[in-house]
Amino acid sequence: MTTTALLTGAAGKVGKYVIGALSRRGVQVVATDIVSKGIPDDIRFEACDLTDAAAVRRVVSLVKPELVVHCAAVVAPIAYAEPELAEAVNLGGMRHLIDATKTHVPDAFFVFVSSCAAFGPCAPGDPLRHATDPCWPDDNYGLQMLTAESWLRYSGLRQCSLRLGAVMDIDNLMPEHPSYRPFIFMVSLDQPEHGVDVRDAARAIASAAVQQPDGHLLLIAGDDSWRVTARQLRGEVFSALGVSMPPDKAFRPGTDPLVKDGWFYECWMDVTHSEQLLGFQRTSRHSFMEELRKRHRLQRLALFPLRPLVSRTLAAASPYTGRGAIAPGATIWNDVFRVYDLPTEVARTRSSQPAPPSPF
Ligand SMILES: NC(=O)c1ccc[n+]([C@@H]2O[C@H](COP(=O)([O-])OP(=O)(O)OC[C@H]3O[C@@H](n4cnc5c(N)ncnc54)[C@H](O)[C@@H]3O)[C@@H](O)[C@H]2O)c1
Repeated sequence: MTTTALLTGAAGKVGKYVIGALSRRGVQVVATDIVSKGIPDDIRFEACDLTDAAAVRRVVSLVKPELVVHCAAVVAPIAYAEPELAEAVNLGGMRHLIDATKTHVPDAFFVFVSSCAAFGPCAPGDPLRHATDPCWPDDNYGLQMLTAESWLRYSGLRQCSLRLGAVMDIDNLMPEHPSYRPFIFMVSLDQPEHGVDVRDAARAIASAAVQQPDGHLLLIAGDDSWRVTARQLRGEVFSALGVSMPPDKAFRPGTDPLVKDGWFYECWMDVTHSEQLLGFQRTSRHSFMEELRKRHRLQRLALFPLRPLVSRTLAAASPYTGRGAIAPGATIWNDVFRVYDLPTEVARTRSSQPAPPSPF
């Protein structure tokens, strides 16, 4: 009998690739999202806004999946610029999906695609992260990922969560949302980053869906070659695209490498166990960059004389230089709430909901 998976966020950067990875494993995919762009015509699509509890119940009861693969999210930095939407999707959507699964398909296996954001900030001096490490997210997105993981863990459903590192898609290096433009400067160039090719991430997700490692929290990132600094990863990507890196002063400077405050959540993770279990790593950083360079050979040649101009145009989006520049705050979150102009309550509590009344 064919297994059916309900895949949320199927039109997203990761979800798009999960369709193929699941299909190749013989799983019948029913794709759902609020948009259908890029979903192959031969894949059944059911539009569903996860913030609408009734719509989620309807789609789950209609499809009756054996697998729920949850890739939909409002990711950072969009989650910073649109905190209410992020909360509605990342927490509300998760709640609706868990409730509908428990009601209509309580035996289904639920795979939640989470993020290393759940760990919280990571300084260059920190050791490799393990799935059992304590978490202290200091932004709304990381808190939402951690909360959603724990709701699922205690839901009574058979489940696993996958915390992904920095997902790299050759076809979609920087999403269109305007929040990304200042954000690329808000992470210090000394930040540890653990990349993973999106095709490998999708393989891990599909493999987890098929193997059903109940109760596991798995860390998903590339092989050792992908453990680099932001400076190296961005430098290689910029160079492959034929663009000069903007000057260092455009980026948030690094702070004490032994103190987490001031750093982003990207981190180096111990992925040995996940790789043994799921066997997903195929693409080294070198082969990714090679492919990227090949893909952009003509663009590189065309841009060569324009490199200084392009670099200056990019740097103009930096919040730390030019007119209206801000001084870097003690934490990235301090900068986030100034750059995206967040209401004070959100900045203070990382939540767009009013705080519950004090029990005292
Ligand atoms: N991209 C990364 O670098 C990265 C890194 C770590 C973890 N992740 C995780 O991977 C998962 C997928 O991320 P992505 O990069 O594909 O994000 P994405 O933004 O490309 O895709 C998210 C999808 O969710 C859909 N969505 C948003 N709101 C919705 C709603 N109300 N109802 C239904 N669908 C809705 C969007 O339309 C989109 O297609 C997320 O859970 C994210 O936390 C991604």
